[in-house]
Amino acid sequence: MNKELRHIPVLLNETIQNLNLIDNGTYVDATLGMGGYTERILSLSNCKLVSIDRDPLAIENATELKKRFGERLHVVNGLFSNLDQILKKLSIPKINGITFDFGVSSPQIDDPTRGFSFRYNSALDMRMGRNEFSATDFINDSDADLIEKILREYGEEKQARRLSKAIFNSKPIQTTKELSQIVYSILGNPKKDKIDPATRTFQAIRIAVNNELEEIRLGLATAIKYLAPKGRILAVSFHSLEDRIVKRFFTENSSLKRNINRHLPPSENEVPKLKVVTKKPILPKDREINDNPRSRSAKLRVAEKVTSLLQSDSRAA
Ligand SMILES: C[S@@+](CC[C@H](N)C(=O)[O-])C[C@H]1O[C@@H](n2cnc3c(N)ncnc32)[C@H](O)[C@@H]1O
Repeated sequence: MNKELRHIPVLLNETIQNLNLIDNGTYVDATLGMGGYTERILSLSNCKLVSIDRDPLAIENATELKKRFGERLHVVNGLFSNLDQILKKLSIPKINGITFDFGVSSPQIDDPTRGFSFRYNSALDMRMGRNEFSATDFINDSDADLIEKILREYGEEKQARRLSKAIFNSKPIQTTKELSQIVYSILGNPKKDKIDPATRTFQAIRIAVNNELEEIRLGLATAIKYLAPKGRILAVSFHSLEDRIVKRFFTENSSLKRNINRHLPPSENEVPKLKVVTKKPILPKDREINDNPRSRSAKLRVAEKVTSLLQSDSRAA
């Protein structure tokens, strides 16, 4: 594999262990990326795997894996929000597990031409796949209020108002450098060993351009419909917005909803669908963080499809 296209899979052992692989099972890797999870899943079990990515480059890079694993691997260029269509098209009625490893891959963020990072100067793009609009389009077509909302909600940026005005008044913005310089003019220049002040702004705009949070909600909602009893959903998140969605989704689907007569046995809609396996998220060990600093903010949460009411007794912490 081309060295520049390397991505070190995060929490790989923990993810694979928690997937409870069974031979002849059917699994989905919803975030193929450079194939780290895909390769391990197919090597360890005689299962079938559907590996999905919105980025055509990830699909191209899976050629070797396709050769090696043949019919056991289906590689699909698609979105979490297409999961239902993808599985229907492949005539897959049930899956035994699904992994989500959110966010961008190293080749996406490290390729200056993709325009994700303030570390390189390039056209401000940030599209993970073939989305219609880029970060440049987004900024140049938005009013100051929308930019402020995005910076506040997706970047948790305290200076969202001042920053959005400065961005709006500097339009048109074409490059990553133009954007980072505007941020520095308001928040100050980056300091050694401190998080770059442009981080939150770049994260917010990336999330908006790729509709990332809505994609996560839709992906999780479809996954639960397809899970076989005891099948597992695994989600690795990298910031609090992603993790909050996963945690809330697991909690809501593992709680008994008693909105009808509590003296009657619960109806099918009231019975929890999931049992939370990880009461606290699994975090990378110090060694992994040393070897791969990008893993430092990762959190893995796991939930299992319940087979009976008795099994569904835990909640996410
Ligand atoms: C962190 S990387 C996954 C890395 C992978 N686990 C590996 O070991 O190489 C995330 C990948 O998910 C893809 N992705 C992000 N959001 C997606 C979505 N909504 N639908 C499909 N793929 C998505 C990105 O394009 C990226 O390639």
